[in-house]
Amino acid sequence: MKALKIAVLTLMAISVVALAGAYTIQTDNKGEPQMSLDGGKSGPVPFPHLAHQTALGDCSICHELFPQQAGAIAALKASGELAKKQVMNKHCTKCHKLMKKEGQKTGPTTCKACHVKD
Ligand code: HEC
Ligand code: HEC
Ligand code: HEC
Repeated sequence: MKALKIAVLTLMAISVVALAGAYTIQTDNKGEPQMSLDGGKSGPVPFPHLAHQTALGDCSICHELFPQQAGAIAALKASGELAKKQVMNKHCTKCHKLMKKEGQKTGPTTCKACHVKD
């Protein structure tokens, strides 16, 4: 029982370190102010990057999930580190829904408001 407890605590400690140390956050290069994210067969997703930086203030809100590189989300989906629609559901839409519920100004929560067909 004690050995199991130690094993579980050790695993937890390792995963905390892995999460905290996953990607280094830099704040000098703010990247593109406006971008288009790959939304698969539902069509591209226009993404106002600068508006999020201004409204949220903290780069790590998004960039502890994926690094500050163009194509980072697609690369992590290809390697299986992020599931398809994980960023969309557990990150983008989750935050918009929470803020909407609290009556705050936020982003879209419906498919067609995020994905544009070209
Ligand atoms: C609401 C989410 C979010 C926040 C907050 C955010 N970013 Fe990003 N950032 C993204 C997304 C999405 C991408 C594109 C990733 C991809 O192409 O797969 C990106 C890409 C980047 C890139 C590389 C692409 C490029 O345009 O050159 C840099 C650099 C970057 N971000 C810097 C920052 C900095 C600095 C901050 C904080 C001041 C920040 N980001 C805050 C979502 C965010
Ligand atoms: C807040 C914006 C937002 C909303 C709302 C949204 N999406 Fe997405 N969707 C994204 C982003 C960003 C991606 C790419 C990142 C990812 O796969 O998590 C994406 C990815 C996708 C993909 C491609 C997944 C893959 O890798 O093949 C499909 C399909 C999709 N969305 C369908 C939908 C449907 C259906 C709805 C409505 C039920 C919806 N989306 C609502 C932003 C959104
Ligand atoms: C932690 C919260 C948070 C996350 C995560 C987040 N957003 Fe937002 N989003 C906001 C807020 C706040 C605004 C309103 C910004 C403003 O207008 O000043 C916004 C606005 C938007 C808008 C603009 C709507 C308009 O009226 O122009 C789009 C599009 C959008 N978000 C898409 C996304 C996508 C795609 C992602 C994921 C890659 C994402 N957001 C992640 C909080 C978030």
